[in-house]
Amino acid sequence: MDRTGGIPISERGHRYYDEEDFLKAYLSRRSLVDNANDTLEKPVMLELIGNPEGLRILDLGCGDARFGAELLERNCASYTGLEGSKAMSELARRTLAGTAGTVILGSMEDWSYPQASCDLVLSRLALHYVEHLEAVLARIVQSLKPGGRLVFSVEHPVITSTLQPSGTRTDWTVDRYFDEGFREQQWLGSTVKKMHRTLEHYFSALQAAGLQVESLRESNPVRERFHSADAYERRRRIPLFLFFSASRPSL
Ligand SMILES: C[S@@+](CC[C@H](N)C(=O)[O-])C[C@H]1O[C@@H](n2cnc3c(N)ncnc32)[C@H](O)[C@@H]1O
Repeated sequence: MDRTGGIPISERGHRYYDEEDFLKAYLSRRSLVDNANDTLEKPVMLELIGNPEGLRILDLGCGDARFGAELLERNCASYTGLEGSKAMSELARRTLAGTAGTVILGSMEDWSYPQASCDLVLSRLALHYVEHLEAVLARIVQSLKPGGRLVFSVEHPVITSTLQPSGTRTDWTVDRYFDEGFREQQWLGSTVKKMHRTLEHYFSALQAAGLQVESLRESNPVRERFHSADAYERRRRIPLFLFFSASRPSL
């Protein structure tokens, strides 16, 4: 156990991204035509974030920070990516070279967050690796300025409930939905652990952290975002991602 009472650093969700074959498989999946991130996840994140101009942004589990480069191009005031995997953080450093963005190698669970200095904390598909959401939310809240916002995506609880081997999904069994905890999945050639929480848990944890929930979204597909009609039809069957936007009350 570490000092936050969660799983040791060496077993946290960022370790998979330090496995060479896993990282290669992950990056290659992200570049497929009609990949789920670009067709389903990123558009909703952009809608929830709105205009990033002038915002001081912290991105938890930033991956290769390509999103950070885009936000900087759109004139955010600052961008800091926190990334737990060394290999990913090096990719992120390369992506942000020559920009004002910075990358920090560290875990969301125990990094020393800046106090009341962020306008926007975002996290894309990383919080479902965290065991104690409440502990991380408390840190996020402290890092937000009054009126600042948290916007994040996670794998949908319908998916994390069962975590069958990934592949082309045409139907899905939801099981043990109310038994929260880590589930194992065969994913990209590795055995990966993701934390299953109910939708109600995400919602209540945000409220309990003192945040005002502003939006709850799901990855409802939009036809124009897909090259393939079949891929679009398939994505109408099973929700992959869940999104929240919540704000720290103004003083
Ligand atoms: C699915 S990837 C998403 C990357 C990026 N946010 C994106 O959407 O392109 C999840 C990322 O979260 C990082 N991660 C997972 N658990 C983490 C933790 N506890 N602290 C920091 N980073 C973590 C992983 O190393 C990985 O880069």
